[in-house]
Amino acid sequence: MKKILATGGTGYIGSHTVVELIQAGYEVEIIDNLFNSKATVIDKIEKITGVRPKFYEADLLDEEKLDQIFAEAKYDAVLHFAGLKAVGESVEKPLDYYRNNIMSTVNLLEAMKKYGTHEFIFSSSATVYGEQEQPECVETMETGRSITNPYGRTKYFIEEIIKDYAIADKDFKAITLRYFNPIGAHSSGLIGEDPNGIPNNLMPIIMRVSDGRIPELQVFGDDYPTADGTCRRDYIHVVDLAKGHVAALEHMKNGVQIFNLGTGQPTSVKEMIKAFNEASGKELPYKIVGRRAGDLAEMWANADKANEVLGWKTELTIADAMRDTINYLNHEKEEHGE
Ligand code: NAD
Ligand code: UFG
Repeated sequence: MKKILATGGTGYIGSHTVVELIQAGYEVEIIDNLFNSKATVIDKIEKITGVRPKFYEADLLDEEKLDQIFAEAKYDAVLHFAGLKAVGESVEKPLDYYRNNIMSTVNLLEAMKKYGTHEFIFSSSATVYGEQEQPECVETMETGRSITNPYGRTKYFIEEIIKDYAIADKDFKAITLRYFNPIGAHSSGLIGEDPNGIPNNLMPIIMRVSDGRIPELQVFGDDYPTADGTCRRDYIHVVDLAKGHVAALEHMKNGVQIFNLGTGQPTSVKEMIKAFNEASGKELPYKIVGRRAGDLAEMWANADKANEVLGWKTELTIADAMRDTINYLNHEKEEHGE
């Protein structure tokens, strides 16, 4: 049985992937500094899978601690989810983003080299494509050129670091996964997206509007050149995304492989509101406001490469994601006695 380290494994995408990995028979350990997640996620993972993953509360910037952890455990592969991800905040605090995201990756690669771990999967983002002439993104397109924020640039720089490292270390096997827009929650309702602080992304905001923590959703622009005027994105259920990592682990080979993980289908903001209303049986209050700086009218994944090479494709729908999000919200309310 392969032994896996999941950095950022108590976070949103990490926790769902840890569940799928355990259910696929992998032994998983987690490092997270709990900056944007809670230690109780470990209990939830145990409740879902019946297995309690070993958890290290540690910061990847702490090289000594990382060395101790690697010295103790012989990992076969590292899945690197840990990172800061708030686009707006990255503009305010670029050095925090460069230090945290880039230095932690370099520290990890050094620990892997020292202790003979050769397999690496990196959580990249569709943001590396920036603005393209066509909205359907293919892995062969040029990246990095028109990224508008430091967060996005950390993803691009790390992708390049991984490529350089793979040239130097012939045993290194890396997969870069470019996620599109992850949404939804585990069907158990036990884990989901639960960011600390004020959210920036559409679904966490919809969740907060639906339970009254935010009065209404502001829709950023309805004058885009799309059918209903609102932006279109490729929303992927987080459980499908998590399964993409299991598929990737089964297809590691020397060098770097890059895959988009998305559905291949765009959905507009208005369509998202409609889907949420259908799942909840309520009307989400919203208001059309001005465009948000840096937003692209539309972008979605060409997922052919992941479909063909990894034998993976998405199975869940937007309606499934909405149902699972509402179920998760209800579980959270019950847990907190509301
Ligand atoms: P998340 O914030 O829920 O999870 C990231 C985890 O990393 C958190 O639990 C945080 O505490 C931890 N972390 C951050 N810095 C750390 C450090 N120095 N040491 C140890 N732990 C640290 O985010 P997520 O949505 O699960 O995203 C996971 C990864 O996927 C991130 O790298 C993110 O940039 C990338 N990604 C996310 C999205 C998205 O929309 N959610 C889209 C594309 C890419
Ligand atoms: N939106 C609103 N109102 C809100 C929040 C979002 O109308 O309050 C709209 C946005 O304008 C956009 C869509 O909802 O059209 C999705 O917005 P998100 O912020 O959820 O997602 P983005 O596609 O803008 O950003 C995501 C990731 C980033 C990544 C980017 C590019 O969250 O990390 O994709 O790939 F950089």
